[in-house]
Amino acid sequence: MDRSRGARAATMLSCAAAFVALAATSCGGEAIDVVDPATIPQNVTYTEHIAPMMSFYCEACHSPDAQTGVVEGKDYSTYEKTRRNFDDLEESVFEKGDMPPGAARRIPPREQAILRRWKALGFPQ
Ligand code: HEC
Repeated sequence: MDRSRGARAATMLSCAAAFVALAATSCGGEAIDVVDPATIPQNVTYTEHIAPMMSFYCEACHSPDAQTGVVEGKDYSTYEKTRRNFDDLEESVFEKGDMPPGAARRIPPREQAILRRWKALGFPQ
């Protein structure tokens, strides 16, 4: 995070405005800035926080049970696989903002912050 305070404030404002205008609007990777870190769990674990999230947002298309089959080997159905594919998750969820695709449920800013904290803590099981 080396952006200036001005850019941060502008991002927060535009996300807040978008949020007010359309409750379900996604602000892409920037939305994370509107989440107060104090409101997310201190000890994020795979079992308690990440597994339910992957199951809810990703596994419909990214698990061996997925009707579409595992997309391009991107499987998020176990701890090991989620960890191994985490760089790709970061790229598609935070940077490109293209996953989940189309009209599928997006990962809200708070859950995105939990994903980032999980990584920062060293991926606890
Ligand atoms: C509705 C089905 C669906 C859901 C839900 C979904 N994906 Fe995907 N995903 C795809 C498809 C299809 C592709 C193949 C690339 C494409 O067509 O865009 C893909 C590709 C990917 C890729 C490869 C790189 C890329 O961005 O194309 C990654 C990484 C990925 N998905 C991660 C995720 C994660 C993490 C989630 C949950 C937050 C998720 N996906 C949810 C269908 C889905």
